[in-house]
Amino acid sequence: MSTVTIQIGPHKKSVPFTGELSLSSITAPYGLPMPCGGHHTCGKCKVKAFGSLSPLTSEEERLLTPQEIADGVRMACSAVATGDCTVILPDKDHRQGEVLLDGTQAQVEAEGWGIAVDIGTTTIAVYACHGGKIVRGAGELNAQSVHGADVITRIGAKRHEELHQIVVSQLEELFVRALGSDAAPADVKKIVITGNTTMLHFLAGYDPSPIAVSPFTPQSLFGETMPASRYFTAYENAELYLPPCISAYVGADMVCAMTASHMTETGGTVLLADIGTNGEMGLYHNGKLYTCSTAAGPALEGACIHMGMAAAPGAIDRVTLGQDRELLWHTIGEQPPKGLCGSGLISLMARLVETGQLDETGALEDPEEAPDDSGEDCVPIGDSGVFLTQQDVRQVQLAKAAICAGILTMLEECSLSAGDVDTFYICGGFGSYIDPHAAAVIGLFPKELENKVKVLGNAAGSGAVMMLSQLYRDTAAKLREEAKLIELSTSPVFMEQYIEQMCFES
Ligand code: FES
Repeated sequence: MSTVTIQIGPHKKSVPFTGELSLSSITAPYGLPMPCGGHHTCGKCKVKAFGSLSPLTSEEERLLTPQEIADGVRMACSAVATGDCTVILPDKDHRQGEVLLDGTQAQVEAEGWGIAVDIGTTTIAVYACHGGKIVRGAGELNAQSVHGADVITRIGAKRHEELHQIVVSQLEELFVRALGSDAAPADVKKIVITGNTTMLHFLAGYDPSPIAVSPFTPQSLFGETMPASRYFTAYENAELYLPPCISAYVGADMVCAMTASHMTETGGTVLLADIGTNGEMGLYHNGKLYTCSTAAGPALEGACIHMGMAAAPGAIDRVTLGQDRELLWHTIGEQPPKGLCGSGLISLMARLVETGQLDETGALEDPEEAPDDSGEDCVPIGDSGVFLTQQDVRQVQLAKAAICAGILTMLEECSLSAGDVDTFYICGGFGSYIDPHAAAVIGLFPKELENKVKVLGNAAGSGAVMMLSQLYRDTAAKLREEAKLIELSTSPVFMEQYIEQMCFES
C-alpha cells in the first residue's frame, strides 16, 4: 500500500492506494482545469509532484519549460503515482484561466444588486452588478473540464449529478469573489445564468443525455424564473432567471448574444457567429430570424492540435511574413514559444496559403519530418521550435468547412449571398481574438464578409447582464419564439457546401 499526500496551501490530505494511480484521478475532485480533456495538448493541468512517479513523457518535455521541470512540475494528465509521493495543487487563485470578461459594457435599468453569469463549456464569467451596471467581474476555467473539453464528452461521462455539484460550488465561490466586500449574498435580488443547453442542464441537475442522441430533444429549453435558493442556499432573497434556449445546440448563450447585439433592431441584414467548439449562428433578414449550429470541433481553440495550447503566455498568437517571405512569429506575453493557440493557428495557416506552402487540397508543400519522432509531415514556424503537422491542417479544414458551410447554407435559405450581409458580428472567446483577414484567407467565412466584421467580445455575458431587466427577458422570449431553426445535419445544401469549403483558395 502506498500513500499520496495532496497539499493545497496549508492543507494536507493523505490518500492510500495500491498499484499505480494517475495524477488526474487524484486532482479530479479539486477541479484542476484540464481544457484539452486529458489529451496532453493544452499543458494547463500543471501540478507540482515529488516522490515515486512515472518518468516524464514526451508531451511533458514539450509543454513544460526546463525551469518547471527542475521545479518538479508535472502534467496531471500524463504523470502517474507509482508509490509514496506528494502532489501540490495550485491555489484556487492561480487556477484562473484566460477568461473573456471584456466586451461587456452592458448597462440596464435594474435596482439593487444582481449577478449575471455566462457558463461556457471552457470558461465561466461572473459579473456582479449594482443598479444594472457591472461593478466587478470574476472568471475561471470551467471546473467541469476534468470530465472533458466538449459537451459530448461531458454528457458521455454520465456523471450529471457530480457535474451539477461541481458547477454549483464553483459558482458560489465566483459569486463571493465578484461581490467582494461590497455586498453579501442576502443583498442580491436577481441572478441570471446563461449557457449552452447542456451547461444549463448540468446547472439544473437534469440528465442531458438526450441532447447527444437523435432526435436531440433536451429535457428543458428553460426561459424560466425560480428562487435562487433552489441551488444557492445563501441567496435567499434572490430570484434566478435561466434565459431560453432555442434547441439542443442553439442555447441560451446564443439568445443572450443575439439580444446584446441588437441584431434584430437595426434593420439591415445581420449575421452573428459565436465560433467555438460548437459554432452557433444567427441571421436576421427582412424581419425574420434564422439560427443554426454546426460542430466545428475543438481544433480552432488549439485542442487536438499537435502543438496546440490555450491562449496563455508562450503561445504563438500571430504569424507574419518577413522580407524573404519567411515565417515570423509573436508569442503572448513575449515569452519563449511553447505552442500555438487558436488565433496563431489561423494566422499561420493564412500565411501558408498566401505563400503557396499549403495547396488547394490542404497538402503541405515540401514538408519536413516532425522533430519529435512522431513521423508526421510538418512545417516549422521559423526558428520557434513550434511546428504544424499535416494532421493539424486536416483538423482545421474540417472545422473551417463546418463554420463556412453553416453560414452559406443559412444565407442560401434566405436566397442571399455573402455580399448582401451588412454586418457580421463575431463573438465568443476564440472569435474575439482572430484576425478577420486571416480567417477569410483560410475560408473560415466567405471573403465578402471580411470588411463587415465587428467583434463583440463576450456577448453572451453582456446579454445576461441585460436580462437583469425584464425588458430584455421579453426580447429573449420573442427571439426564441421567432427564430427559425435550420437543421444542418439533414440539409443537402450543407453537405455540398461542407465538401466544397474543405478546400483552400489560393
Ligand atoms: S489536460 Fe493535461 S495537457 Fe491538457
